[in-house]
Amino acid sequence: SAASPSAIDDFVSCLLSANIPADQVLTPTSTSFISVLTSSVQNARFATSSSSNATSPACIVAASDVAHVQSAVRCGRRHVIRLRVRSGGHDYEGLSYRSLRSDDVFAVLDLARLRAVRVRAGDATAWVESGATLGELYYSIGKSNPGFAFPGGACPTVGVGGYLSGGGIGLMMRKFGLGADNVLDAMLVNADGDVLDRGRMGEDLFWAIRGGGGESFGVVVSWRIKLSMVPSTVTVFNIAKTVSGDGAAVAALAKWENLILQPFMPELTIRVVLQGNTALFQSLYIGGCGRLAASMDAYFPELGMSRSDCNELTWLRAMAFITTGNITAPPEDMLRRTNNLGTSVKSKSDYVRRAIGATAWTSLFTNWLSRNNNGILILEPHGGVVGAVVPDYATPYPHRAGVLYNVQYGVFWWGDDGVNAARRWLDGVYEEMGPLVSSDPREAFVNYRDLEIGENEIGEDGLTTYESGRRWGERYFMGNFRRLAVVKGRVDPGDYFRNEQSIPPLFQSY
Ligand code: FDA
Repeated sequence: SAASPSAIDDFVSCLLSANIPADQVLTPTSTSFISVLTSSVQNARFATSSSSNATSPACIVAASDVAHVQSAVRCGRRHVIRLRVRSGGHDYEGLSYRSLRSDDVFAVLDLARLRAVRVRAGDATAWVESGATLGELYYSIGKSNPGFAFPGGACPTVGVGGYLSGGGIGLMMRKFGLGADNVLDAMLVNADGDVLDRGRMGEDLFWAIRGGGGESFGVVVSWRIKLSMVPSTVTVFNIAKTVSGDGAAVAALAKWENLILQPFMPELTIRVVLQGNTALFQSLYIGGCGRLAASMDAYFPELGMSRSDCNELTWLRAMAFITTGNITAPPEDMLRRTNNLGTSVKSKSDYVRRAIGATAWTSLFTNWLSRNNNGILILEPHGGVVGAVVPDYATPYPHRAGVLYNVQYGVFWWGDDGVNAARRWLDGVYEEMGPLVSSDPREAFVNYRDLEIGENEIGEDGLTTYESGRRWGERYFMGNFRRLAVVKGRVDPGDYFRNEQSIPPLFQSY
């Protein structure tokens, strides 16, 4: 049922009379409402309500304690105010702080203050709260022991909460698996406001929250993660190849995609960023330069890598190098919580299961990349542990066996000008890639959320319909979608936690 006109007032009173300090409950008349609302927005597309046809929150709850999260859920249920849970605010469609439903009355439950990281060196684990950024996590891990690491993504401002909820791909997954593959336990506030650990939530729900996408199952307040063991230094290098002249970029790309599924050094990840007429090969090797350079010479001579390209750094400094491209970047750079209100971005994603070959790479550069410097493709190789060791049903992330790489397409623009050209470019390159990428379904990555592949509809019973969810859900989760929906039906049958792409409840067995 819809919220009554006084529902927000009642919700706020409920929060205040529970346990939440008044300065942590903000309404649009509060002086800091806008600054808190935009504090982790990463996309100018969503920075102002006029630039998007979206509904803004009626309230922000800046939780600093698990009890605040419980109160927000209980008061929200009582007064029919839904919650948009926000950890790092990087959602590609801004769903952690805006709604595309005009009749939605909702509050943002902001977890940015719940950001503690507690490393337990004795058993090489850590508890990390969802509001921590990946950079804060890396910093705490690296400072506690340079031999510890975590297989997370390249961008340090991404929130742990959303990252792990969507599975989490990164530069060490060929060796250690997805971020979510390394979650051992979690604390979740469910739709009744109860706190559940792994034992209390049961294995089905624990399975679902490790990759089934954020928002759907409750609020994960913290995660217990397994730390990975790395040598005291690892090796990073960047090599740029261009398409002009000798066509070095195309030859290197054609070789690169054929190496991924070979039993070739899971310790090595080479992701590729394509922009303009350049392919930047960004590499992380969990080991020393000597063995790496010899192997590259033998297996991948097209890259032309030599010992002089190597930077041997602690893992923490290596992550700072990957972020900044600067070998002297201090690890403290990883702690910056910068946001981005200047640039508009739209992204889409694909998975490639068959090498696309030199002709297609040439065409991509000629017809698309070299014609728009504001368009970018990021290729993340799979294989290794993420592809071979963990079955497709072990977690909701289904893009494992046989996947060569994920493709992320992004296009940038500034102000209102340029949006049409940007969209034409993105739609064009996505269409051209269609025949070359996975099909039936055309797979997509939930962490690169794209509302253009489908949005939920609400049925007459007030619940998200399963059929509307299948359109986008089977592209993100393939055969795992149904199991996610069954778990949702069991743990949140009233569909309290929902957004335009949340898992719909299904009241059947799988
Ligand atoms: P945000 O707070 O916006 O939440 C995302 C979604 O999860 C929302 O639906 C939200 O409601 C829900 N949610 C958030 N916290 C929750 C919680 N505690 N409990 C339940 N639900 C919660 N991904 C990747 O896998 N590898 C990568 O290398 C990168 N790199 C990258 C770079 C940049 C610049 C961006 C903008 C994004 C990425 N991503 C990525 C994608 C990123 O992992 C994805 O957008 C995450 O959802 C972001 O998590 P946040 O907590 O920042 O987002």
